[in-house]
Amino acid sequence: MLKKIPFLLLLQARCFSTKFTLKELAGQLRDNYKNVVVMVGAGLSTPSGIPDFRSPDSGVYNNLQKYNLPRPEAMFDIHYFQKNPLPFFDLARELYPGRYKPNLAHYFIYLLQQKGKLLRLYTQNIDGLERLAGIKEDILVEAHGTFSTASCIKCKKKYDPDEVKRDIFNNSITICDHCQGIVKPDIVFFGEELPKRFDDCADSDTKKTDLLIVMGTSLEVYPFAWLADVLPFNTPRLLLNREEVGSFGISISPYTADVVIKNDIIDGVKLLAKEVGWWDELKLLTDEKTNINVPD
Ligand code: APR
Repeated sequence: MLKKIPFLLLLQARCFSTKFTLKELAGQLRDNYKNVVVMVGAGLSTPSGIPDFRSPDSGVYNNLQKYNLPRPEAMFDIHYFQKNPLPFFDLARELYPGRYKPNLAHYFIYLLQQKGKLLRLYTQNIDGLERLAGIKEDILVEAHGTFSTASCIKCKKKYDPDEVKRDIFNNSITICDHCQGIVKPDIVFFGEELPKRFDDCADSDTKKTDLLIVMGTSLEVYPFAWLADVLPFNTPRLLLNREEVGSFGISISPYTADVVIKNDIIDGVKLLAKEVGWWDELKLLTDEKTNINVPD
């Protein structure tokens, strides 16, 4: 829960804080930080060809007219799903992992892991590209669930995710043989709890984060977005996003060491990697993993 602090303390924190530069942050990341927490959203995967949710025109929520939903978010609302699961199963056929590949930004996060600096990666994405990029299970928190498991929405009985996928692609619905509930992939819908792992990891991680990196998310959805605002106020936070989101860029934000790279995520990651001195390594890694020659 966000801490309540007196306005004057906030103002004081802002008045005496010196601007933390990208160069300083990059130097600390290279030489000192060992517990980097990364929070990502759909903007991490748009360079891989997967639309995000809220970008004007291209976002998923702007292209759901054919489903006649009461509001776009109903697509992922558990109460609406119980009444009419067909729109989600139709969209799921487009979203199922397998057709898309990780991009340079995923491999930057992988490089943090390989350098022993990635404490945790919290993702809202369900495309599975973090796993595909090689992020380890114990480091990855899939806060909004995954297609890689499936269960009944009523009794939570587990089902074979491949069988559920087969039914979905055959336009049929898997019904629970225990309670007749609908079986779906374990994507977290609005109205459902986040996986317990999210709270468990957040409780311990927020106490030892050296640097928070937020990439490609509107920070519109809670409780995931809270993670960006429950760190000690002097914790450095770096935003890589097309626009400022959440408490980034707010003049009275208590965070005194924010750095914002307002840019396309690929260009932002390139800038950061060059500042840290990891660009050649990242370029080589991404070329090897994707067989695409990443331009300088
Ligand atoms: N480069 C930089 N920023 C980008 C790029 C890009 N190539 N593409 C998208 N973005 C930014 C958008 O400008 C936006 O700020 O990423 C953010 C994506 O925001 P959303 O579309 O709201 O996606 P996300 O934050 O992941 O949504 C959170 O909402 O509907 C739920 O469960 C769903 O997990 C999702 C959650």
